[in-house]
Amino acid sequence: MRTEGVCVRIPASTANLGPGFDTLGMALSIYAWIGMKASEATVIRLYGDQMEGIPTDKSNLVYQVAQMVFREAGVKVPELEIAMYSDIPLTRGLGSSASAIVGALFAANALIGSPLPETRLFDMATAIEDHPDNVGASLFGGLITAVWDGGHADYIRMDPHEDLEVLVVVPDFQLSTTEARKVLPAQIGRQDAVYNISRSSLLVAALSQGRLDMISKAMSDRLHQPYRAKLVPGMAEILEQAVDHGALGVALSGAGPTLLALVDRRSGRKEELEAYLVNTMKAEGIRASAHWLNPDCEGTQLIGSMPSGSFLELIKGEVNA
Ligand code: HSE
Repeated sequence: MRTEGVCVRIPASTANLGPGFDTLGMALSIYAWIGMKASEATVIRLYGDQMEGIPTDKSNLVYQVAQMVFREAGVKVPELEIAMYSDIPLTRGLGSSASAIVGALFAANALIGSPLPETRLFDMATAIEDHPDNVGASLFGGLITAVWDGGHADYIRMDPHEDLEVLVVVPDFQLSTTEARKVLPAQIGRQDAVYNISRSSLLVAALSQGRLDMISKAMSDRLHQPYRAKLVPGMAEILEQAVDHGALGVALSGAGPTLLALVDRRSGRKEELEAYLVNTMKAEGIRASAHWLNPDCEGTQLIGSMPSGSFLELIKGEVNA
């Protein structure tokens, strides 16, 4: 047991990347931090306005997930001091819940000397989330392609091409994954299945070989985006036209409502693209903020002990707050 506690940093993530529904994910350079330490009595401190309404008793997700790790490892740590801060927008399709789950698993495991391998943490995270895309990217960083058989997730991690930059446009409304999955059909036809398998395969090949020229063709989808478009005003137009404004490719980020464009960082059209995305949503009455991000290649990292003073002090310099 690390008596000094632990502090971990977890990246945000985007899932699907268009055609890779429930299978492709990429980690992004916005972060959450979780501190954890064994204690006499459970205390959960949440920092930042975003955390309003999140429980601070033992029903808290981070506490609950940490206890799963202790049960799995056969140890008892019933009382915990937990601190959490996140820059990842909540319920916007950037993997905020996945980051909490992965961070809780990683921190709890590190606290007791890391008895569980990361592959086991991945299986546990996927079982909680139900799909491996966000949790895999947050845990391992980079680009993840993963398959899940209901008990075990197999994956391959790739480093994104160095010229890939990411522009996300985050609307000022929330959309839960549950709601965004309810609009999807239970069955799809063979033509649509082939459409997605071919694009998803092409996208993985293009990303692994740095074929940025193929991304726009590869990022289209018929499994989920056409059905979800009605939930995000402006999305249908953006998916069709963003490439004409300088994007390499564009997709709904996870279950939305954030839209994500992959961009060649050497592009001279970044301002044009950002203005096009924000203004298209504005024309639909949706306020949205644009953020330029990089793929995160490190995944979840142990960054130190649980600070004895201010939690924000430890992560200062890294947070946007
Ligand atoms: N693959 C999932 C979906 C991601 O699109 O519903 C949600 O976070």
